[in-house]
Amino acid sequence: MKTIFTRTFFCTLACLFIRIGSTKAQTSDKMDWWKDAKFGMFMHWGLYSKTAGYWNGHKAKGNEHFMIHEKISLKEYAAIADDFNPVNYDAEEWVLTAKNAGMKYIIITSKHHDGFAMFDSPSNDYNIKTRTPYGKDPMKALVDACHKHNMKFGFYYSLGRDWEDPDVATNWPQKGGRSNLVDYPNEDIKVFSRYFKRKVKPQVKELLTQYEKIDVLWFDTPELISPAESKELRELILSIQPNCIINSRIGKGLGDYKVTEQKIVKGLEMNPWEACITMGKNWGYIEYDTIYKSSELMTRQLLEIVSKGGNLLLNNGPTAAGEITSLAQERLAKMGKWMKKNSEGIYGSKPWITQVELLSNAKKIEDIDKKEDENTMKDNANDATSKVIIPEIRFTLKGGNVYAYVCSFLEKQVTIKSLSKNKNIKIKEVELLGSTEKIKWRQTPQGLKIEMPKYAKSQIPIAGFKMTTE
Ligand code: GLC
Repeated sequence: MKTIFTRTFFCTLACLFIRIGSTKAQTSDKMDWWKDAKFGMFMHWGLYSKTAGYWNGHKAKGNEHFMIHEKISLKEYAAIADDFNPVNYDAEEWVLTAKNAGMKYIIITSKHHDGFAMFDSPSNDYNIKTRTPYGKDPMKALVDACHKHNMKFGFYYSLGRDWEDPDVATNWPQKGGRSNLVDYPNEDIKVFSRYFKRKVKPQVKELLTQYEKIDVLWFDTPELISPAESKELRELILSIQPNCIINSRIGKGLGDYKVTEQKIVKGLEMNPWEACITMGKNWGYIEYDTIYKSSELMTRQLLEIVSKGGNLLLNNGPTAAGEITSLAQERLAKMGKWMKKNSEGIYGSKPWITQVELLSNAKKIEDIDKKEDENTMKDNANDATSKVIIPEIRFTLKGGNVYAYVCSFLEKQVTIKSLSKNKNIKIKEVELLGSTEKIKWRQTPQGLKIEMPKYAKSQIPIAGFKMTTE
């Protein structure tokens, strides 16, 4: 009796371990592509792209949130749809723009806070197919183009903010702070669960069943969702697409990875995380938002994020006509050129023991900063990322090799102290990424001394090196 009991006990225990093991294996499998990808494109596209930052002839308050900041009624706002017709939209071109920039996934707003669905939504007629002269579902073409070009794809979905539905209360920054109070002024009679049942669940189902494989569901603003509802939503998603990755904004700690917005974490972070950052100052298209970060700055941000174990989801807001702005195109193309040569130490890499080392030549920093000035933003309300260009080295690790990205350097020779002879790292070979040029290098007790390559003015001044170690 005792043996049977012991056997059953140990069997159960073993099964439990195998089960836990396999769940773990499954979760990590599902996240594998995402962890390797490092770089994705965020797209904010909706009715707000049409007004492009204006309302009634003046600059509208609140960017893509102007409906509530300008206290516009749903009826008035919805009329924007009457003229929304993205005649120049070419899904394949969007995907190729992302792909040529070196991006591995696209996340697009299926429904932003305004509640307007940019997809065919049989459950709710406030959507692009029913309400606009375009009369089609643009997401279908985008998902198809992504699948064709081996680009992962995800939908953004505004969860706890929806200005079309009467049952969505908010309490940030104060009661009703992000609610549609023009049409639905009484916050006390709003019942989230009604909206959840009526709109969220049916639309999430549509997003997961109308387009074949969806790689990510990217929720925003969980706001007043309850723990039970976050859980129910997660289960619903996984019951339809078990490999779908869900971000932390599903709420209540139930996401697969953490999101930071307009900022980069301070140090190394080993749990999956992603920074979403704008190129200009806004998420949606704003005609007068023309000061974009330089390609150099954005490449540096990508390297900083990757060296700390994260992904960069870089935003752009296409126009209502369906075009990616020429400013964004130009920045992305330049980054893409750089990525073609240097991405080896980015995709599939892991953080190294050291994330960053400052270069000594501090005096010249100003020069670079001034040169970049017209393209480089100063801090603004919602973008807290640094705009300063400091010569520094960012590190990654892949396949046992250390990769060093020497950023915005001015010297002819650079000394990488973190790779000095005294650190017990014996370097066998140093290669300049994307080049067959023979590099002169010497490992000394002060550091690894490298003769730097020459750079054309048009290039991003970041040199990537691969160090094969013994
Ligand atoms: C901010 C913006 C919102 C945008 C989101 C992306 O919260 O207010 O409009 O969609 O960032 O993370």
